Amino acid sequence: MTIGETVWSSGPWPFRFVPLIGTNQDIVLAALFPDGVVFEQMDPASADIRTLHAEEAAIVVNAVESRQREFAAGRLCARRALARLGSPVAALLVESDRRPRWPYGTVGSISHTEGFCGVAATNLAIVIGIGFDVEPRAALPLDVWPTVLSDAEHQSLHAMPDRDRGVYARLAFSAKEAFYKCYRSTGGGWLDFHDIEIRFSAAPGEMTAEVLARKRLWNRAPSVLGAFAISSQFIFTAFTMIER
Ligand SMILES: CC(C)(COP(=O)(O)OP(=O)(O)OC[C@H]1O[C@@H](n2cnc3c(N)ncnc32)[C@H](O)[C@@H]1OP(=O)(O)O)[C@@H](O)C(=O)NCCC(=O)NCCS
Repeated sequence: MTIGETVWSSGPWPFRFVPLIGTNQDIVLAALFPDGVVFEQMDPASADIRTLHAEEAAIVVNAVESRQREFAAGRLCARRALARLGSPVAALLVESDRRPRWPYGTVGSISHTEGFCGVAATNLAIVIGIGFDVEPRAALPLDVWPTVLSDAEHQSLHAMPDRDRGVYARLAFSAKEAFYKCYRSTGGGWLDFHDIEIRFSAAPGEMTAEVLARKRLWNRAPSVLGAFAISSQFIFTAFTMIER
């Protein structure tokens, strides 16, 4: 796939740098997913909470306004994505684990942070699971590293220049969140950060998540290919699982 004006880095962990201009970012975000997955995005600050359906509004009725806006942004983007798939939905409610209850035959993933909300969705005939995550492009605080990173991931980071380490630590964090969402959407259960390991491949913007031994009861695909991109403001990560 052509990635427009994307620039590739030359560090030990190659990444896609996404220049934030016009539709180029849309092209790069779409390239994180296989054909047939639709992607919608908006700034949560511009989401109007009055667009929520009554049942959706009831879910965040006691939340602070910023949470209501990000929730509304996710619902708006999801509605647009589902309409493009020919699966319009009145209200997108939630499962008991807070996952959206996607309409029959579809699956998707929502993520938001300050300044960005994105939703990827598709038909279950195309993938069996999908996960998307966005994080600000900022270093992961050092005190969180032991909670998030395995020894092997730590070692990879120490092989990198000092200035890149914190952002790559957050990239690994984001990848685990995206993988978790993908895993849950296929019917998988709880995962701890230390249940999976992220490996960045030689191909720019590609990575794998490996489910470690003690969770091997989940045998659908112990190693799953994912994709990531880093812009001047954000880190984007995505996993999609396709039945083989
Ligand atoms: C689900 C979770 C990963 C969300 O990540 P986050 O960075 O806090 O927030 P994001 O904005 O990226 O994603 C939030 C969206 O994820 C979706 N979501 C919530 N729970 C979910 C779940 N169990 N499975 C899939 N998607 C879920 C929702 O759509 C939610 O947005 P909404 O409430 O506005 O609809 C996180 O809250 C969580 O539950 N983590 C526990 C498990 C974990 O992190 N394990 C370690 C990683 S392996």
